[in-house]
Amino acid sequence: MTQPPALSLNDAIEQVAGDVDRLFDSLLTIPDDARERLFEAMRHAAIGGGKRLRPLLVVATANIFNVARSYAVRAGTAVESMHVYSLVHDDLPCMDDDDLRRGKPTVHKAFDEATAVLAGDSLHALAFEILADPATHPDPFTRSELMATLAKASGSDGMAGGQMMDLEAEKSSFDLPTVTRLQALKTGALIAASVEMGAILGHVPPEGRTHLRGYARDIGLAFQIVDDIMDVEGDELLAGKALHKDADAGKATFVSLMGLDRAKQQAEMLVNQSVSHLAGYGQEADLLRAIARYVLERDR
Ligand code: IPE
Ligand code: IPE
Ligand code: MG
Ligand code: MG
Ligand code: MG
Repeated sequence: MTQPPALSLNDAIEQVAGDVDRLFDSLLTIPDDARERLFEAMRHAAIGGGKRLRPLLVVATANIFNVARSYAVRAGTAVESMHVYSLVHDDLPCMDDDDLRRGKPTVHKAFDEATAVLAGDSLHALAFEILADPATHPDPFTRSELMATLAKASGSDGMAGGQMMDLEAEKSSFDLPTVTRLQALKTGALIAASVEMGAILGHVPPEGRTHLRGYARDIGLAFQIVDDIMDVEGDELLAGKALHKDADAGKATFVSLMGLDRAKQQAEMLVNQSVSHLAGYGQEADLLRAIARYVLERDR
């Protein structure tokens, strides 16, 4: 039997972006009461923008194991909700103090700081609300594993812990192993959770996830190295956010520690290594391979 033609990366990105937008739209119906402003702010942050890399990773991984697409889209939207909350708070004046995100004013600029804090809080909670819903998976054990995985990746052992280290990076002179750990938490944890959650939906037991975890760890690090490179030589219009912030803040990054050339070599090496972790899979993992290339070649 011939396989149906594989979806191109661009088509896959577009499809996932549409699915995520539609789900956020249906979950964030604006109420006719004094919470209207909060919902407007959540919609401003969550709908219509971003690369949707994390939901794409959930869908692409779940696809290998023939998981129903609606489950994968819901789990992916949960990770994206967590990610969007982290961006809303990351942009606040008490953190990076940024005015532009995804080509639009940041939430505290378009609304106000208190609304941005609450919109972030609510998107954080929404992530778990989505995962706890039987529509995400009929099996409560699977839902519980999804929730535990996202919780671990988001808190002090994951993204928020990495954000704390990132703030300290402005004051201390971190070495390369410390910056690597910082980035693995700040950015790598949610990317790794995305792949892990695809495998959880596929009922892959933990001992069967080793290669996927290796893939996720390597693209997560490559992704952040490229973010640091873009901060130096990217195009603000394409990125949709302010760049040249890391050096101004005196922050230790992969680029400040290795220089641009070595950072680029390192990102490429990591992407090749990430693809080599998928050697045991056939064309069902082609989308994950294409995502790895995209992580390296992206310009936004
Ligand atoms: C930006 O993440 C923040 C980092 C973790 C580096 P993305 O580059 O995935 O941002 P969006 O989702 O495309 O806006
Ligand atoms: C933010 O990292 C990462 C999280 C929100 C967890 P950055 O501060 O480097 O992200 P950008 O460059 O503002 O997107
Ligand atoms: Mg930051
Ligand atoms: Mg920032
Ligand atoms: Mg950055």
